[in-house]
Amino acid sequence: MVSSILRCVDCQTEYAFEKNLYTCPTCGGLLDVVHDLAAWKGRAEELRHLFNERMRSWKAVDRSGVWRYRELIAPGIDEKLIVTRGEGNTTLYDATDALSLYVGVNRLQLKHEGENPTGSFKDRGMSPGVTRARQMGATAVICASTGNTSASMASFASLAGLRALILFPEGKVAVGKVAQSIAYGAVSVQVRGDFDAALELVREASDKLPIYMLNSINPFRLEGQKTIIIEMMHQRNWQVPDWIVVPGGNLGNSAAFGKALLEMQEIGLIDRLPRVAVIQAEGAAPFAKAFEHEFDHFEPVRAETVATAIRIGNPASYKKAIRTVVKTHGWATSVSDQDIMDAKAQVDFAGIGCEPASAASVAGTKKLVEQGVIKPAEEVVCVLTGHVLKDPQVVIDYHGQNMPNVDAKFPNRMHTIYGTLDELVEFLPGNAAVRL
Ligand code: F0G
Repeated sequence: MVSSILRCVDCQTEYAFEKNLYTCPTCGGLLDVVHDLAAWKGRAEELRHLFNERMRSWKAVDRSGVWRYRELIAPGIDEKLIVTRGEGNTTLYDATDALSLYVGVNRLQLKHEGENPTGSFKDRGMSPGVTRARQMGATAVICASTGNTSASMASFASLAGLRALILFPEGKVAVGKVAQSIAYGAVSVQVRGDFDAALELVREASDKLPIYMLNSINPFRLEGQKTIIIEMMHQRNWQVPDWIVVPGGNLGNSAAFGKALLEMQEIGLIDRLPRVAVIQAEGAAPFAKAFEHEFDHFEPVRAETVATAIRIGNPASYKKAIRTVVKTHGWATSVSDQDIMDAKAQVDFAGIGCEPASAASVAGTKKLVEQGVIKPAEEVVCVLTGHVLKDPQVVIDYHGQNMPNVDAKFPNRMHTIYGTLDELVEFLPGNAAVRL
């Protein structure tokens, strides 16, 4: 039995869960999936025990880092419908001393969502998204994407036997991501325009054509993305950090994080809220700009940044993300491409690695520490959203000092030699004979 409903975040109109809606038919606002959590109030211990038990199970839906928490994601779901790749289960790293020193906090952790099956956090939302598409009887799915949503959708759609249609902004998608979409068999189309234009076209297409829309306007995607936070708290034995820092593009994650935290607090799984800081790239920072004016108005921008994943000027989940920042007494700011790339080099040197957009969270934390917003003694969890191999070209360009607007602070050059031992020894600092 499903007791959840859909509710508009603007006009509050409620709709039956079974209705096939992405946005509010009355006012066009975004929809929330609202679960009846009352039954779990005061029963946090029981839930924790259930989640722990599932960690010891080999059942696919128990092993998934999304469906393990299904009471908070899709209560009452018919498990036979679930499309899963065992998503989630990502590592929560303690930062190396060098990385903590670089950022300026004593207790830094990194939740690495690049460890999902297709290399980004998108799998967490795509699993329930594609499950819902199947529930609705869809045979084809569509999204606009800066590359990761599409890679994820292409994979999950193929797994579920659905056709996938992807609209990319022309020429601005990292090569690893384009390759994934093509490899997984999606119909891949470049749109002459940016992500915002491609998303507009997707909204129109899904209105007029019999094709199910899987951008993060779709509230079922965000239900899955909540598990980044739920799983992180589980890994921390339900101890709340002071800050959670996340990159912001279309603001789906920022939206989902607030919803997850408020619901967990309502049930009693956590006893207080952490502050959520949203970090955008300077050239794509309409949310950070609006934060400066306490969200009294919003202006879309024409986006440009080396972090192509977050090259978005008109974020779809803007209103839901405001809710997160306001309710958690959070923050929003932006960082330059230079800061993003230098922070990425530090995350990469730590042996952890991430794609450029992910490093915005680390660069943003460093900036907020320098500004005194985050205190060095506070506990911070940065979310890394994508895998280092998503965008290999930018790694080569940074370390080869070959980026037009970035002067690499930490280049690690490639060397070429003819192949003698003497030449090789020259690259080893100190006394090579002793060191070897
Ligand atoms: N980091 C990465 C690696 C992303 O791919 C994205 C978004 C974000 C951060 C921003 O997350 O939109 O929830 O604020 N990528 C989308 C895509 C837009 O099409 O793959 P957000």
